[in-house]
Amino acid sequence: MIRTPLTRWFDLTTPVIGAPMAGVAGGELARAVSAGGGLGMIGVSGRHTPEFVTEQCAIPAASQDPFGVGLMIWTLADRPDLFDATVAAQPSLVSMSFGDPGPYVGPLHDAGIAVAAQVNTLADAARAVDAGVDVLVAQGTEAGGHTGQRALLPLLQEVLTLTDRPVVAAGGIATGAGMAAMLAAGAAGVWVGTALLACTEGLNGAAARERVRAATGDETVLTRAFDVAEGIDWPVRWPGRALVNDFSRVWHGREDDLVQDEAARRLVVEGRSTGDPATAPIYAGEAVGLVTAERSATDVVRQLTADAEKALAAAAKLLG
Ligand SMILES: Cc1cc2nc3c(=O)[nH]c(=O)nc-3n(C[C@H](O)[C@H](O)[C@H](O)COP(=O)(O)O)c2cc1C
Repeated sequence: MIRTPLTRWFDLTTPVIGAPMAGVAGGELARAVSAGGGLGMIGVSGRHTPEFVTEQCAIPAASQDPFGVGLMIWTLADRPDLFDATVAAQPSLVSMSFGDPGPYVGPLHDAGIAVAAQVNTLADAARAVDAGVDVLVAQGTEAGGHTGQRALLPLLQEVLTLTDRPVVAAGGIATGAGMAAMLAAGAAGVWVGTALLACTEGLNGAAARERVRAATGDETVLTRAFDVAEGIDWPVRWPGRALVNDFSRVWHGREDDLVQDEAARRLVVEGRSTGDPATAPIYAGEAVGLVTAERSATDVVRQLTADAEKALAAAAKLLG
C-alpha cells in the first residue's frame, strides 16, 4: 500500500485525486474515483448553478467517501452563490484554482474544509503558500483543460523547494509508472484528469468519449480559440489544452480575427450543442493517447495504483 501525507490526511488507500473537470466530473465520477480508494472531485464552472453543486455533491456524500469540489476563482466575483453552495455541501477538499486563493482560505478553514490550489508558476506557488493553502497542485502545461506554460517536472521540483506542505502532481499522468515517477520525485500524490475522460461515469457524451479513445498524444493544442468563440472570459494566462479539430486548425493563433468573425464563432457554439467533435472543444491533455478503453473510474484508479506499486518496487531494486 502506498502511503503519503495525502493518504494520511484524507484517509485514502491510494494517493490519487480525480481532477475536478467541469462538464465531465460530476458526482458519479467523483464517487467512482473515491470507491477506488482515491479522492474524487467535482468540477464547477461559471456556467453551473448552485443547485448543480448541491445535487452533484449529494452523490459521493451518500456513500460516506471523501470527495472534493474544484472552483474557478475568476468566475466567483460574479458568482458567490457557487462558493456558498460548495461550503454548504461540506466536501473534504476544495480546490481554488485560476486566480488568487487568498480571500477563500479563511472561510473554507472556518468551515473545516481543506484547501488545494493548482499552481502554474513559482509565483503562484509562493502566493498559495502565503495564503495558507493546504495542498499545492503543480499543474504542468501537459495537462488537459486550462493550464499554464510550464512543464510539470521542473515546476514540481521547484515548488517542492518552496514548501513542506503536500505537493500533488498534475498533467500527463495516465499510467502506474508515471504515477510512481511523480511520487519518486517527491509528490504526495497525483491529480488525474485526462485518464478519466473515457470513463462511463463522466458527464461527457458518448461521441466525446469515442474521440478521446481514438486520439493520440500528438493531437492536442493549447489555445484560446475555443474560449474566444464561446465568449468565455478566461484570463489570457490560462489557455485550454484540447484535441485538435477542424476549428482549431483554422483559428488557433488567429484569436484577434476570430473576435471579428461571428459566423466562425457560431460554429463552436453550435458544435457544442450538437456534440460535433469537428468544431466543439474536447479538452484533453497530452496523455490522451494512453486512454483507449471505456472503463469505470474505479478500475482506472485501482489499475493505476497496482501498477504504481509494481513500478515503485522495481525502482527500489535499482538500488545496490
Ligand atoms: C475536460 C477537462 C476539464 C477540466 N476542468 C477543470 C475545472 O473545472 N477546474 C479545474 O480546476 N481544473 C480543470 N481541469 C484541469 C484538471 O484539474 C487537471 O489539472 C488536469 O486534468 C490534469 O492533467 P491531465 O488531464 O493530463 O491528467 C480540466 C481538465 C480537463 C481535461
